[in-house]
Amino acid sequence: MVTGAAGFLGSHLCDALLAEGHSVIAVDNLLTGNLRNLAHLKRETRFSFLEQDICSPFDPGTTDYIFDFASPASPVDYMEHGIETLQVGSIGVFNLLELARKHRATFFLASTSECYGDPLEHPQKETYWGHVNPVGPRSVYDESKRFAEAATTAYRRYHKLDVRIVRIFNTYGPRLQMNDGRVISNFMKQALRGEDLTVYGDGSQTRSFCYVSDEVEGILRLAWSKAQEPTNIGNPGEFTILECAKEVLAVTKSKSGIQYLPLPQDDPKQRRPDITKARTLLGWEPKIDLRQGLELSLDYFRTEVESEPSVTHHVAG
Ligand SMILES: NC(=O)c1ccc[n+]([C@@H]2O[C@H](COP(=O)([O-])OP(=O)(O)OC[C@H]3O[C@@H](n4cnc5c(N)ncnc54)[C@H](O)[C@@H]3O)[C@@H](O)[C@H]2O)c1
Repeated sequence: MVTGAAGFLGSHLCDALLAEGHSVIAVDNLLTGNLRNLAHLKRETRFSFLEQDICSPFDPGTTDYIFDFASPASPVDYMEHGIETLQVGSIGVFNLLELARKHRATFFLASTSECYGDPLEHPQKETYWGHVNPVGPRSVYDESKRFAEAATTAYRRYHKLDVRIVRIFNTYGPRLQMNDGRVISNFMKQALRGEDLTVYGDGSQTRSFCYVSDEVEGILRLAWSKAQEPTNIGNPGEFTILECAKEVLAVTKSKSGIQYLPLPQDDPKQRRPDITKARTLLGWEPKIDLRQGLELSLDYFRTEVESEPSVTHHVAG
């Protein structure tokens, strides 16, 4: 079972599980996801879809593995749906943990690098406890995920449930929401529309970006391993936001400029995974660098921009 299956990562995970020969029950309430992401699986006999909010108890039948990818994930979405975000990481996760217990299934939690907050340690290892503002605007997401990790670990500790926790770092690729407010989608969209790229602050804050096929491969390696503790999966290649903007301009061959705006509150200044654990434990590391990943994503973003209604865009390239 994959929850959040109609979203960006969940849908790619469904594809990868089906490609490995598994059967998949996909669950989503379509809060931020879109059935378009699963349309290509309509005729797949090993695939079924259930429209369901995981915050209400449910049981779609026997399952041996629950992948929980249900949660608003982008800052735009979790700030708009703050309460739902807190609920899905608490009530929703409890419901799934109980389901996993009932079916003796393994529970896999999609957690996040946001657990590290605005980190004081760089790069971030799994042993770092984080630096999170519990009442800041991002806290609905950060604390929801930290709680979800605590709940997952408690079920392991008290009920001997078999669990995995992945801390996902910024991931991008086809099916990423266009209006998610994250760096790559913003820049690609703006570049392809011929608009200036918006950089918050002076652009010297850094991010790491993992291409979706690398991320999903890491997730599956972790899933089939015995590692019960949180594990970082992300690309350690670090770019300043300004460098990222320049990569996007090069790949899209866009003539857009750069517009600077003030830095939002609690925006992390640095974020980069230490993937030593994933390397040694899972033999995993990302293969696709930012330039290649942007090239692989270009067709998707171009199609999305070209299908936008109304406004006339100056499409580059
Ligand atoms: N994309 C990233 O870079 C990234 C980074 C860190 C963590 N994650 C985590 O990975 C998971 C998937 O993220 P994504 O980028 O694919 O986001 P997404 O918004 O594309 O997908 C999330 C999906 O969850 C569904 N959902 C939300 N609340 C639900 C509920 N109560 N019941 C059922 N379904 C619900 C949404 O409709 C959506 O389809 C999330 O848990 C997110 O926190 C993603």
